Parts: sequence; C-alpha cells; structure tokens
Amino acid sequence: MPINILAIESSCDDTSAAVLQDGRVLSNLIANQDIHQQYGGVVPEVASRAHLAHIVPVVEQALKIAGIAPDQLDAVAFTRGPGLLGSLIVGVAFAKSFALSQGIPLVDVNHLEAHVLAHFAEDPKPDFPFLCLTVSGGHTQIVLVKDYLDMEILGRSLDDAAGEAFDKIGKEMGLPYPAGPVVDRYAQLGEARFSFPEPQIPGLDFSFSGLKTAVKYFLERESKKTPDFIQEHLHDLCSSVQERIVSILLNKLQQAATQTGITEIAISGGVSANSSLRKAFEELGQQKQWSTYIPAFQYCTDNAGMIAVAGYYKYLAGELAEQDIVAQARI
Ligand code: KG4
Ligand code: ZN
Repeated sequence: MPINILAIESSCDDTSAAVLQDGRVLSNLIANQDIHQQYGGVVPEVASRAHLAHIVPVVEQALKIAGIAPDQLDAVAFTRGPGLLGSLIVGVAFAKSFALSQGIPLVDVNHLEAHVLAHFAEDPKPDFPFLCLTVSGGHTQIVLVKDYLDMEILGRSLDDAAGEAFDKIGKEMGLPYPAGPVVDRYAQLGEARFSFPEPQIPGLDFSFSGLKTAVKYFLERESKKTPDFIQEHLHDLCSSVQERIVSILLNKLQQAATQTGITEIAISGGVSANSSLRKAFEELGQQKQWSTYIPAFQYCTDNAGMIAVAGYYKYLAGELAEQDIVAQARI
C-alpha cells in the first residue's frame, strides 16, 4: 500500500497544501496573499485571517488534483514553526482536526528543516552528508545535513536574514513588498556600479544590517544632491545590492565547504529563487568541482510540498506528534 501524506504550510503569508505519495509530490498548491503589498510588509493579523479563508479550499483542491480521498491518507504533516504565531495556529488547528476526524497520525515539521528537505521533492537529490545554504525571508543558515533528520547549523545570520535584506533595502528604494523578486528583475537591467561594504564577520555567521545601513545612508546622501537619484539609478542600485548579498552568501558557503571538505552543496529557501545567486552558485560549483543542487522554483519559496517531504521522512522514522501539540513561533 502506498503511503499518502497531506501537508499544510501556513508559517507566513502564503497558505499551502500538498499531497505526497511514497515521497513523490502529487499536488502542491499555494494561495498567495497579495493584500500585504499595500502595507509594505506582512501584517500578522491580516495574514491569519487570510489563512482562515484559504485553508479549506486549498486543501480540497490539493486532494482533488492528487486524486486522493481523505480516507486514503496515512498522516497529516504541518509546519509547527518557526513563523508568525497567528498564522501557524491556523495550520496547526486545521491539521489537528483533520487528523482527528480521519483517525490518522499527525507529524509536526520544522519549517527550516523542510526548506533543506525540499531537495528530496525531485531528482537530482544530494548525497549525505551535504551542505545547505538556507536563505529565506526570516533566516539565513549554513546547515550540515548528515541525514534526513540529522542536521547541524554551522552558521547563521546575527541580524537580518538575506531575504529581509532584499526586502528592507528594496523598500528603502521605494519597491513594493516583497522586494526580493523585484530587485532580481531590475538588477538584470543594470550594472553593479556602486560598491557596498562586505561585512567582516568571523566564522560562518552572516550579517546584513551593516549593508542595509550603508545603502540607506548612501541613498540619503545622494538624494540630497540629486533628488531623483534613486529613480535614475534604480537598475544599477538593484544590481549592486544584489551582487553584494550574493557575494556575502557565497563567500561563507565556500568557507564552509573548505572547512568541512564536503563537495555536495545545495541552496534552498525563497532567496534561492534569485537568478544571480543561482548563476553565481553554479559557476562557483563548477570552479570548485562541487555537485550543486538548486530546487525547482516551486520548492524554493514557502510551499507545503517541502513540508510533506519532511513529514514523510519523520513518519517513516515513527516521529509522530500528539494531539496536544501547539504552534511554536521560535524554534
Ligand atoms: O522561504 P520564503 O518563501 O519565506 C520564508 O520562509 O521567509 O522566502 C521569502 C523571501 C522574501 O524575503 C523574498 O523577498 C525572497 O525570499 N525572494 C527573493 C526572490 N524570490 C523570493 N529574493 C531575491 N530574489 C528573488 N528572486
Ligand atoms: Zn520559508
């Protein structure tokens, strides 16, 4: 009998449901909440309400596309955290009641581990041990992945995450939320003509707040001299900021590879959708003779497919959750 898992992801602003059969994704649906654009960021209360509105239709649709009936499911996996508490609570409550109604087990999933395990949603899959640079809106980590459920964080951001840096610097330049994809698009039309500092952080940790401040002061100074400075140089500014973020990320990743001697190297999380990061990562990999892995776009940004994959391996290992489990904003 095949093992069918339903997964729910609701940690931030997107409501997602997926169905996995024996480790293969049958459906992976995402309901976006564009409403946050008008506020320039995610408003937690608005996000929770939108999750409430979306969760039932998204799950129904995911099951329909997969061609799986609720009574064919073996377990319900859900994101326990980290994320926005109010958003997580909607997914957790839904998963618990669904599991209870079907008499099937629950599997709690750590959102960041799921970003790493997104690499097992499709071929080619990395061999253990591998290094994974997880770059999202809330986190930046270099993870040593020893097995599906055995991971060690080697480095992390001491302040802003890489995605946050894209979003905050983009906002400073007047771009809509989330600015990451917009910066990516504009950067392709410009040149990295402005030089922003690379932080000197020891070890494998990251810092992005210095870059954010440097860009802010630079823009303020230049805009005083030329009021339309940002508009006139938007593409070059995006290109310059993006180039620096990518170099900060890849320098540390390279350092981690040298330090561990590992040559199976992966990137994941929303920022791994960035075209410049993908390209520079592939080039570096060729130069260093690494085997490189980048998830397909749909598995980079938040999605329930990756929660289903992580849930599947936890289910196989017998790591199930009890009905009294609660959401955890910080893990
Ligand atoms: O992993 P994710 O979907 O959600 C979190 O777990 O945070 O990542 C979202 C982040 C946002 O900061 C967004 O701006 C960034 O990923 N992002 C990008 C691109 N696509 C998404 N950043 C740069 N370039 C992109 N193409
Ligand atoms: Zn994420």
